Amino acid sequence: MKSEEIRKRFLTFFEKRGHAIIPSASLVPENDPSVLFTTAGMQPLTPYLMGQEHPKGKRLVGIQKCVRTQDIEEIGDSTHVTFFEMMGNWSLGDYFKKDAIRWSYEFLTNKKEGLGLDPSRLYITVFDGNDDAPRDEESVSIWEGVGIDKSRIYFLEDNWWSPGDNGPSGPDTEIFYDLTKNGLGDMSLEEFKKADERQNVVEIWNNVFMEYEKKDGRVVGELSQKNVDTGAGLERITMVMQGKDNVFDTDLFTYAMAVTEKNISDENKNLTKEMRIIADHIRTAVFIVSDGVTPSNTDRGYILRRLIRRAVRFADILSLESEGMKKLIDSIVIKYENVYENVKSQQIKIQEEIKKEEIKFRATLKNGTKELEKIFIKID
Ligand code: SER
Repeated sequence: MKSEEIRKRFLTFFEKRGHAIIPSASLVPENDPSVLFTTAGMQPLTPYLMGQEHPKGKRLVGIQKCVRTQDIEEIGDSTHVTFFEMMGNWSLGDYFKKDAIRWSYEFLTNKKEGLGLDPSRLYITVFDGNDDAPRDEESVSIWEGVGIDKSRIYFLEDNWWSPGDNGPSGPDTEIFYDLTKNGLGDMSLEEFKKADERQNVVEIWNNVFMEYEKKDGRVVGELSQKNVDTGAGLERITMVMQGKDNVFDTDLFTYAMAVTEKNISDENKNLTKEMRIIADHIRTAVFIVSDGVTPSNTDRGYILRRLIRRAVRFADILSLESEGMKKLIDSIVIKYENVYENVKSQQIKIQEEIKKEEIKFRATLKNGTKELEKIFIKID
């Protein structure tokens, strides 16, 4: 199933269940100075999770652009990316655990309306309880009710999600999918954790039950309403649906990876990790520039600068020429132009900004090399 079909099925499934479709907000958060980029689907909805009335009602569904760069060193493995899209359905004080869990299961496993995934490959984690909130036994019985065996449900203390130190938060229940060829079968908690570390199972869905408020990093009490905040990474779901073991082999990345590979020298074609880093960073840069950010030495502009410069460094390692970089940008625009109009309308600006930064970086590198040479001459 292509990513386009996954997008369509997700929105339609929840629309049929009374959710209004909302467009992705910008990567640049509006009214939230605590973060540089939108990092989760719920972020633009924070005021509504806190109790404000949303103009489109209490049930929403959408696919949100997100940027997370804290794992930048991990990029190149199977699942980490700096830009991703998060599919999400939200209940703003409307339905709660029962419907959220049932619909997530139904969407993932139903062949006709959903994705038709094999239920025997699913594993579930739930909140184990702490001083802030009790162990989530209710979610366990709902999971058992849809047919998940208790042996595949694990209690974990860190199953709690919040966007930061302040705002709505709550216990979550995560759905993992077994990627191995023959299936892992029943696993103890320890075996499950190891499978997760090895990326043999990957988290594909998170249902957060946002009923608590955090202030300065501490849970201070209950919110005025009980919300549901779901997050399902489009890249990972697409990976699972396309039978791949990494997100770079899905249709979301195949053009970008193919163009990168075509434009590097033959002896480097086995350097997969480096190719993935270039494709990932340039894809993220494309989206950040399309949302109005340009490279600079501060805040968002600095993150963009760092991504482009890192991509250029790896492009040099692989001998990817400037023309190859241009083609890579175009391939990303082509993949997303029907989803995000501004990626197409900003195409020329995106090309120019990335090119300008590449030139600046090369000038800095050249100056740096000259300075180093001077130092070595002095030492000699
Ligand atoms: N906010 C949660 C997450 O990012 C669920 O969407 O995982």
